Amino acid sequence: MKYEVLNLLKKNTETFLSGQLISEKLGVSRTSIWKYIKSLKEEGYKIDSSSKKGYRLTGLPDILTYEELKEYVNTKYIGKNIIHFESIDSTNDRAKKLSEQGAEHGTVVISEEQAGGKGRLGRIWCSPKYKGISMTIILRPNIDPMEASQITQIAAASMINSLKEFNIDAKVKWPNDIIINGKKVCGILTEMSGELNKVNYVIVGIGINANMDKYDFSKDLLDKATSIKIETKSNINRKALVGALLNEFEILYTEFQEKGKINLSVEICKNNSAVIGKNIKIIKNTQESCAKAVDLDGKGRLIVKHKDGSLEKLISGEISIRGLDSYI
Ligand code: BTN
Repeated sequence: MKYEVLNLLKKNTETFLSGQLISEKLGVSRTSIWKYIKSLKEEGYKIDSSSKKGYRLTGLPDILTYEELKEYVNTKYIGKNIIHFESIDSTNDRAKKLSEQGAEHGTVVISEEQAGGKGRLGRIWCSPKYKGISMTIILRPNIDPMEASQITQIAAASMINSLKEFNIDAKVKWPNDIIINGKKVCGILTEMSGELNKVNYVIVGIGINANMDKYDFSKDLLDKATSIKIETKSNINRKALVGALLNEFEILYTEFQEKGKINLSVEICKNNSAVIGKNIKIIKNTQESCAKAVDLDGKGRLIVKHKDGSLEKLISGEISIRGLDSYI
């Protein structure tokens, strides 16, 4: 009911709506309306209250709740159910628990802040409250577990396409980093629960450095990490970006779901690759080797050419790559 009050206020921002009128329209008491208004104000909605005129919505909070995202999301199944937190340990860990409890395909977990955000290869992922975007998409694909790593390429391609909607040119540093001007703005952590030949669920965690300032990054990160705000010199609308990302993700994921192929995503990742054509360092556990990145195959594996001329297809798993003497 609280959000029905909000919807009424959203439709009438030019005028005050009296408590009497809202209570008649929604069939609840004026005391309840007052309580809902109080609770909306606590969520960050700016509402003018006047004992004579009633209530008028004057400002929306910059929060990634379903109520604030719904006008940006036009999907059939991704993000139809959005579970929002002000703060939790990790959206990936919460998504795992929710998946175990039966959360439906396409559910999205978002938190304004994570106390224990996780990166790939056991790293920590930090993002200050309301400045970054930390979200995880729960999927229940009917695939062989070996195919699951392709979903990271779908997420990377979705991120590239959604940034293009804001005229931002980004690149994919295979397999899971999105970079702008050579520095990382987004990381993807795909995790899976499955048996030998059956996937129970896949969760795709996406962390975006949206509106961080330079002082939000530790000194040792500043040479390889940045934010969209730092690179474009203006704040990005986080709600619109999440909306675009979920919309793009559904389009690209549907190809995988219906045809078992990720041709569209591979094309986007190839055309916007930060590594293809470059000499790279491949880091596997503690071992390093050098090769040239030459292409992506149809499943999003990176094809590299070794010094002896032999070709190898890399599967993301435990592998990292770097430029020969810098991050890319
Ligand atoms: C990486 O670049 O190493 C991957 C970073 C992934 C971070 C995101 S933030 C949302 C989700 N929850 C987590 O704990 N991690 C992912």
